[in-house]
Amino acid sequence: MAEHIRGCVQAGGGWLSFERFMELALYAPGLGYYTAGARKFGRDGDFVTAPEVSPLFGGCVARQCAQVLESLESGEILEIGAGSGRLAVDVLKRLALLDRLPARYRILDVSADLRERQRELLSREVPALLDRVDWLDAPPASFEGVLLANEVLDALPVVRFRWRGVKSDDVCELGVEIAGDGFAWVERSASAALRARCRALFEAAGGTWPEGYTSEYCSRLTAWTAEVTRGLRRGLALWIDYGLPRSQYYLAERIEGTLLAHLRQRINHDVLMLPGLQDITAWVDFTALAEAGVAAGFEIAGFTTQAHFLAGCGIDAEMQALAAGDEQRFARLAREARQLLLPGEMGERFKVMGWTRGIEGSWRGFGLRDFTHSL
Ligand SMILES: C[S@@+](CC[C@H](N)C(=O)[O-])C[C@H]1O[C@@H](n2cnc3c(N)ncnc32)[C@H](O)[C@@H]1O
Repeated sequence: MAEHIRGCVQAGGGWLSFERFMELALYAPGLGYYTAGARKFGRDGDFVTAPEVSPLFGGCVARQCAQVLESLESGEILEIGAGSGRLAVDVLKRLALLDRLPARYRILDVSADLRERQRELLSREVPALLDRVDWLDAPPASFEGVLLANEVLDALPVVRFRWRGVKSDDVCELGVEIAGDGFAWVERSASAALRARCRALFEAAGGTWPEGYTSEYCSRLTAWTAEVTRGLRRGLALWIDYGLPRSQYYLAERIEGTLLAHLRQRINHDVLMLPGLQDITAWVDFTALAEAGVAAGFEIAGFTTQAHFLAGCGIDAEMQALAAGDEQRFARLAREARQLLLPGEMGERFKVMGWTRGIEGSWRGFGLRDFTHSL
């Protein structure tokens, strides 16, 4: 991977934009973090996602899906970026018990290795439902139902910039150069478009960035989300990820932005290290996501924290159902629920946004608290 990136830096005259570096590190065919077969999920992987923490997560998401499928009378689920397949298993199990199975459960994932793992997990845990599941190479041309994406948007490559001060209005774009065996950051003057974008972000955040303020934005969010949702004729798209409304994302004190790498359960701030072996992520600007939804012709159905979403979907009922009267199991689920719900854990950092098209309703997950006004 490093050899390949070195070649791209040389081909670019000694400079490669960070956006392209991130794209290669995560997605270069056969070499990238998501396209080569490294172990990524669960307690022995690089990070633990909510579906890996507890079946409560998938059970609650299923309850939201059930409400939409009921209002459409039938429909499909499209999951983007299904990881180990755990969310698909838990959603299908709960929907089967609620007698609300989708006609199809479709998975769109860039990783051939993960698609194989998803198939194995689904055949082991829900063999009777496997014939409803299929793996797509492109978003479906047309469907009705629910689109799910948990922790996918944070992997979209971002442009990294540095603000040089309001007087000069000077903005640099950050890229990488070759430094010994590795890579180092290097600045170059930003394009007029990036300069204009930074000025708008600066103003949205209250106009107080100090000189040297460094952050990022996802230039492909609108196009990517439009592409994967284009076929959704009627239904709900649920985006779950860590992130903030724009005014909080770009606060002056977040002076180094939100870019991080994950390697074997540890957060690594050196995102240029070990390309292809560590996950690279940036928080989601949920205001940008709402704008993308409106541009794609959706209504914003709600925006809330993971904790409020899970509580609205009925995490208490889900606990009772999964524990089925077993006290030990209930105690374990209560521990897992704390990890999903507490503000210091995943409860507040993670947000949920819903987009709807062609349906109306009061969706359970956004019923307790809706923070759309904060976007
Ligand atoms: C951080 S994992 C999250 C997995 C799962 N949703 C979960 O919560 O456990 C990101 C997943 O998205 C997939 N992925 C990343 N970028 C993608 C893209 N542009 N299109 C489709 N899938 C993508 C990865 O292969 C991986 O399965």
